[in-house]
Amino acid sequence: MQRLTNRQIVLGITGGIAAYKSAELTRLLKGAGADVQVVMTPAAVEFITPLTLQALSGNPVHLHLLDPEAEAGMGHIELAKWADMILIAPASADFMARLNSGHGNDLLSTLCLATEAPVVLAPAMNQAMWRDPQTQANATSLQTKGIRLLGPGVGEQACGDTGPGRMLDPLDIASQAAALFDRGLLTGKRVVITAGPTREALDPVRYISNHSSGKMGYALAEAAIDAGAQVTLISGPVNLPAPQRCQRVMVESAEQMLAASLENIDQCDIFIASAAVADYRPSAVAEHKLKKGKEEIMELHLIKNPDIVATVAALKNKPFTVGFAAETRDVVHYAQDKLTRKKLDLIIANDVSRSDIGFNSDDNAVTVVSHDQVQPLPLCSKRQLAAKLIDIIAAKQPR
Ligand code: C5P
Repeated sequence: MQRLTNRQIVLGITGGIAAYKSAELTRLLKGAGADVQVVMTPAAVEFITPLTLQALSGNPVHLHLLDPEAEAGMGHIELAKWADMILIAPASADFMARLNSGHGNDLLSTLCLATEAPVVLAPAMNQAMWRDPQTQANATSLQTKGIRLLGPGVGEQACGDTGPGRMLDPLDIASQAAALFDRGLLTGKRVVITAGPTREALDPVRYISNHSSGKMGYALAEAAIDAGAQVTLISGPVNLPAPQRCQRVMVESAEQMLAASLENIDQCDIFIASAAVADYRPSAVAEHKLKKGKEEIMELHLIKNPDIVATVAALKNKPFTVGFAAETRDVVHYAQDKLTRKKLDLIIANDVSRSDIGFNSDDNAVTVVSHDQVQPLPLCSKRQLAAKLIDIIAAKQPR
């Protein structure tokens, strides 16, 4: 199971005997590709040692809300923002009650208040405690607030009772948590994404290129895969591993990127052009390495590259076509112009004059411009942004 690649999961552990199973759960989440930060309540520490969880998660365990040292490392708000999901297993009756009442009297409950990520609980308690009307009311109320409950299961309990309240097996929790990310918004759709820079050769050893890292395009590929799409990623040279469950085609030049795009465009439903394509290429590629001459100035002759996204948008059976616009001023105005000129369906505009976002950064803030809407999306990680963009693109698709 590699269904959690690059997912950032806060695993919350509360006080209950099932906490020993959280060690196995941590191992399974890590094995599925997730980055796991463990947060334990004071009661959880009575059942399992933080050292075990630290060894299995590969990260220091977070224990206290008001610990200056921990806050200097990854503070509670940072941790709340970092999380793609807060998964609490086991979730005790007391924790469910506190969460339902909006308490923030320990690190884990505070994280649940501060996060925008989904909060998922795997309840574990004695069957009588689970059946108690107050616990049942808390469970129902938490669900109406959008909190997901996995289980509990029914069976023999540590105390000797039999009934509902057993924490689900770690494998079931890991796989149900992974399934929550597979939102299926693009199930059955074929998506082609261009990413990264192009390299335009001058001679066998030199080229013209740019600083594009490919991070945004790769994040979009991951998000589209998670949404159930069949993804072809056409990538210029980047230092990023190929996403799982995706066909990656590596190219160098703009002409190769165009050829690969057209080869993969049949039955393509959505084309996303996130590549930073070189606008021009040397008019001729020297067969041998160019030698340094006596002259102080060397002139290069460049010719225009084909516009890949505009070529795709001009096709008779064009897919839903999404472009990017990197601008330094009048961002929305120029993006609207590009949207019309290139006959795109949607354009994602970013202000590259800002140093905190853009090319090599892990974060980005963009404005999504369509023919009838301008929607700013605030600064967040490229991965979180990619998920939002895929949601927006999916919403514009006929089902
Ligand atoms: O015209 P400009 O380069 O600003 O347009 C950016 C958008 O067009 C991006 O989506 C980029 O991937 C795409 N593009 C392209 N082929 C080119 C130049 C840009 O697909 N030759």
